[in-house]
Amino acid sequence: MEKNHYQGLINKYRQYLPVTDKTPVITLNEGNTPLIKADNLAKKIGIKGNVYLKYEGANPTGSFKDRGMTMAVTKAVEDGAKAIICASTGNTSAAAAAYGAKAGVRVFVLIPDGYIALGKLSQAMMYGAEIIAIQGNFDEALEMVIEISKNSPITLVNSVNPYRIEGQKTGAFEIIEALGDAPDYHFIPVGNAGNITAYFKGYEEFYALKKSSHLPKMMGYEAQGAAAIVRGERILHPETIATAIRIGNPASWKQAERARDLSNGTIDCVTDDEIIEAYKLMASTEGILAEPGSAASVAGLIKAHKSGLIKENSTSVCILTGNGLKDPDSAIKYSNAEVKKTKADLHEILKVIDLSEKISR
Ligand code: F0G
Repeated sequence: MEKNHYQGLINKYRQYLPVTDKTPVITLNEGNTPLIKADNLAKKIGIKGNVYLKYEGANPTGSFKDRGMTMAVTKAVEDGAKAIICASTGNTSAAAAAYGAKAGVRVFVLIPDGYIALGKLSQAMMYGAEIIAIQGNFDEALEMVIEISKNSPITLVNSVNPYRIEGQKTGAFEIIEALGDAPDYHFIPVGNAGNITAYFKGYEEFYALKKSSHLPKMMGYEAQGAAAIVRGERILHPETIATAIRIGNPASWKQAERARDLSNGTIDCVTDDEIIEAYKLMASTEGILAEPGSAASVAGLIKAHKSGLIKENSTSVCILTGNGLKDPDSAIKYSNAEVKKTKADLHEILKVIDLSEKISR
């Protein structure tokens, strides 16, 4: 194999992961995602410092879940599993379905009926998962798959599976390698709280190895209608337009609080309106379309800046967890764009192209 050919995060970071030379690596060459400097966005928000966006939508199935899934499915196959299962608000099911297809195992996914973005559902269908849509939310689906995996030979691949966290921690490694140090602030959406747990683990490990001079402040953001950690209680009926993080009982709740406390960070929430504003701002100023759930990190950055939490000349990284193409319905619903229809006639088209109008961004 070509030495310089990037072959996924297990091959890149194998010394930091629980694999051996004999482990059958199941990979779609995930990871190695762009860290994009967002000067236009920083200026628009009024931040005097560096803002970077880690575009996890560039992963093979379009979300950060691929980082965890390559590890979880690799270890499941190594342990002889023939089937995997997960509960999902959409992205985990797409990733499980894809890596399961690659591994040749059966994939069962439980989703909340009517609450997953169309792109994610279409992925799980195309990759060949067996899809069960329940009349209930993610938290209920997770309780059921935990029960099923305990009592049958099916491996659970939600982020309560520690291999998921191992894979996802590599996002922090990539950020430290790209910046030469850890950022000052790490903004991240919080749903089931696996990803904030994983990133903090990655930051802690590289800090212990002296690859960074400090730990970033972990700044986690739940959606206001699903802000269990912020409110300190399970939310039975979570609601938000950001369906990816429509979760009322985060499985890694304690670990998220640990990350917050050890890093002097925060776990706060953002409203749907703040999420939509950030969602549109990223696209219009930076040319980056991330899904609404991902926009919670940028909405958090805006909120933290307004409260004076961001020091001047500091470096902030926002994790954009999922690709905006997964949810075209939201893009069309919330964009202000108007599609102007005309005859296929040059004069008619030129009438529509009004150069006296100024571009507004
Ligand atoms: N952003 C996106 C796009 C997600 O899909 C998720 C979680 C999160 C953020 C939150 O990450 O759960 O580790 O705190 N999606 C899961 C799923 C629940 O089923 O796809 P978390």
